[in-house]
Amino acid sequence: MKISCTSCLRSFNIPDERLPMGKKVSFPCPKCREKIVLDLRIVPLDEASDWAEQAEQTHPENKTTLDSQALKEKILRRLGDLPAMPQVVLKARQIMADPNSGVKDVVKILETDQAITTKILKVANSAYYGMSGKISSINHASSLLGYNVIGELITLASSSGLLDRVLNGYGLGSGDLWKHSMSVAIGSKLIAKRKNPKLEETSFSAGLIHDAGKLVLDKYVLERKEEFDEFMEHGCETFMSAEQHIFGFNHAEFGYDVCKHWKIPDDISIAIKFHHTPSKSDGNELAFFIYTADAIVNMASAMAKMGGMGATVETMMYMIDEKALKFLGINEVDIQTIMTDIKDSVANMSVELGAG
Ligand SMILES: [Fe+2]
Ligand SMILES: [Fe+2]
Repeated sequence: MKISCTSCLRSFNIPDERLPMGKKVSFPCPKCREKIVLDLRIVPLDEASDWAEQAEQTHPENKTTLDSQALKEKILRRLGDLPAMPQVVLKARQIMADPNSGVKDVVKILETDQAITTKILKVANSAYYGMSGKISSINHASSLLGYNVIGELITLASSSGLLDRVLNGYGLGSGDLWKHSMSVAIGSKLIAKRKNPKLEETSFSAGLIHDAGKLVLDKYVLERKEEFDEFMEHGCETFMSAEQHIFGFNHAEFGYDVCKHWKIPDDISIAIKFHHTPSKSDGNELAFFIYTADAIVNMASAMAKMGGMGATVETMMYMIDEKALKFLGINEVDIQTIMTDIKDSVANMSVELGAG
């Protein structure tokens, strides 16, 4: 959305997905520091973060349930176009979910697929895990990093190729979704570490595939590019509300179906379904972790784009739903720390993985 300062008349863009629809916010102009007031209260909202619901209310001409159901079914039938998770990954995940299993069982399965094992070892040796060059086998990785981290490594190794795709509909170039996904994975894990350390590894895996719905929907967004552009031209809309309006569902909801296709466990699939609307999830902690990490990552990239224009965490706080911050008990200082940690961790992981 293009925002203009009424004092210095300078305009700048804030990506629509990052705007707090349904709220009235004010922040200093990055150029002249005069106050800019942005009123995004198009309709009264019960849930400030529920952008999808907002789209329905703002656009009563939204697709009928019947239309959207038919489209969803059509797209679901094409889910087969998306590469399946390798059998060995599914099997290894199943084993890890069994409390009676151990690293030996996972090793046995993973070793039947040399390509996956090589990838896992490459990731395990990235600077992120702090064991550069020291890990020579899955067994070794498990003893140095912990059995649970193997789950993270399996998700990373199996999804890197998929998430590296170019998504023209969503305007994501090669490596963009991968870098975003890694950042959200790391951020979700950091937030889990503060709030519920038991969920650290699950948060990482869920964060990594949170936008998987976009992989499938991209083709359909591209087919309807004009419709999307026209909808977005109205100014006060998010891309998510455009999805809701044009498809009748959004990428978070569809991400749930992608997870089902990949046989991802329910706890992760459900969190992905609510990653933009965590307050609707009945207190699903994972959904709150992913939502907040996603918002922090988006905030960091908006700040980078506005580089030198005075954008600070303090002035950009409006990008995160207050309810989520309250739920997690984190403040501006914590957000700044998490943001810096994500940046450093992604750099450490990207070098070894060749993702930029
Ligand atoms: Fe998303
Ligand atoms: Fe995201």
